[in-house]
Amino acid sequence: QLSEIHADKIPPSHITIAGWVRTKRGSKKLSFIEINDGTCAKSLQVIVDASLSNYADVEKLTTGCSVKIEGNLVLSPAKGQKYEMQAKNVHVFGYADPETFPLQKKEMTFEYLREVAHVRPRTSTFSSVFRIRSRVSTAIHRFFEEQGFFYAHTPVVTTADGEGAGESFKVTNFDFDKLPKTKEGKTDFSQDFFAEPTMLCVTGQLEGELMTMGLNRVYTFGPTFRAENSNTSRHLAEFWMVEPEFAFADLNDNMQLAQDMIRFVVSDVLKHCSDDIDVCIQKTQNDTREYLKMALERPFVRVSYTEAVDILSKCKTDFENPVFWGCDLKSEHERYLCEEHFKSPTIVFDYPEELKAFYMYLNDDGKTVRAMDILMPGIGEVIGGSQREDREDILIARMKKLGIDTNAMDWYISIRRFGSVPHSGFGVGLERLIMWITGMSNIRDVIPFPRTPGNCKF
Ligand code: 4AD
Ligand code: MG
Repeated sequence: QLSEIHADKIPPSHITIAGWVRTKRGSKKLSFIEINDGTCAKSLQVIVDASLSNYADVEKLTTGCSVKIEGNLVLSPAKGQKYEMQAKNVHVFGYADPETFPLQKKEMTFEYLREVAHVRPRTSTFSSVFRIRSRVSTAIHRFFEEQGFFYAHTPVVTTADGEGAGESFKVTNFDFDKLPKTKEGKTDFSQDFFAEPTMLCVTGQLEGELMTMGLNRVYTFGPTFRAENSNTSRHLAEFWMVEPEFAFADLNDNMQLAQDMIRFVVSDVLKHCSDDIDVCIQKTQNDTREYLKMALERPFVRVSYTEAVDILSKCKTDFENPVFWGCDLKSEHERYLCEEHFKSPTIVFDYPEELKAFYMYLNDDGKTVRAMDILMPGIGEVIGGSQREDREDILIARMKKLGIDTNAMDWYISIRRFGSVPHSGFGVGLERLIMWITGMSNIRDVIPFPRTPGNCKF
């Protein structure tokens, strides 16, 4: 594999390499093939001379063809590459007609590549992004395992809108219009598969909280679904979320855990994906390495919502959305705080109760809840979390105020009745974290097959 060669694990010797042609140039006498096998950012230059019995096959090679090449790996006299290969045998698995193959030598825009997402992983940028995505994911697992968290699997199909925001996709095995109606004219779900209305999860948190009460520290890591009709560069209809939940922990412990997790992931990726990060920096012209290192060196800034609003209302920037105590912080506000004001990852905490979900712990002031959002330069909110309301009466009162059916959700509320303990957790938007790490500016470009309004093609 090329990853082993470029990590100097294989000394110059007789080797076989199988992969795809990135580029090919040459003449009747000599061909130069850049081959990449997907295992790392670097390709390998292969030199084939016309004495090869099937040189005619080699001459027909174009970008995208798949080959297996046997030959000698040697130190390269050329600049910019340590090794090159002298081919002894070339086997062609498959040609890729240059007239119809969607990827060509010339630079292609990210917009164009989204249209051909089925072949996007073959490009250098996207293979780097997806290798980083894999590394980030496994680093997250390693971090939580080291911290004594158990990996919990929470359901994808649920009856509860865990955020209470009404943004879920409904699940049914029927055509909705074919379901019978009740006497009151409402849809009768008794004939439906689960015999009650169900949806795709918007979060795994509620079930995560239940698991925490038995296992102390758990985290979920899976796809979540939101039917927010917002066609922005940071929203997906299907995104991956990591949600740790831990018992005997307050908001401060939560902030600390989130910072530790981000730092663990960043150092792991910087160490193991250096070449892939280089590719991203070159393609996006966005030197993420600089601010990733900063995040490792300085603790994240912590600022209360009230202080944040104060800073925003005193600054000279003209925001599109007005700033006042009680306003929802929009992306422009979030980015001002972390990019211009603090120039650092920033944790905003203690938000007004009205802005946040029903399950957050109500502070003694009766106006704010123990919520936290972590804002990253270039992105805005990457993490949202809170200390959870562990007092049954206060939780019920807040749910009622928000019009949530407390009977249907008694399974959730009831854990407050049986050995309730302070507990906290947060949700990391995996794609937003990867955007921050790679410097990619559109969320559609950090997930292999993005689902957005009007787009579920591949
Ligand atoms: O802030 P959110 O909505 O929080 C929750 O879902 C909590 N249940 C988490 C918890 O406390 N366990 O979402 C968490 C994160 C956001 O900060 C954002 O990064 C990401 O999930 N996110 C999205 N990412 C992409 N597309 C969307 N539509 C997203 N909605 C949220
Ligand atoms: Mg949020």
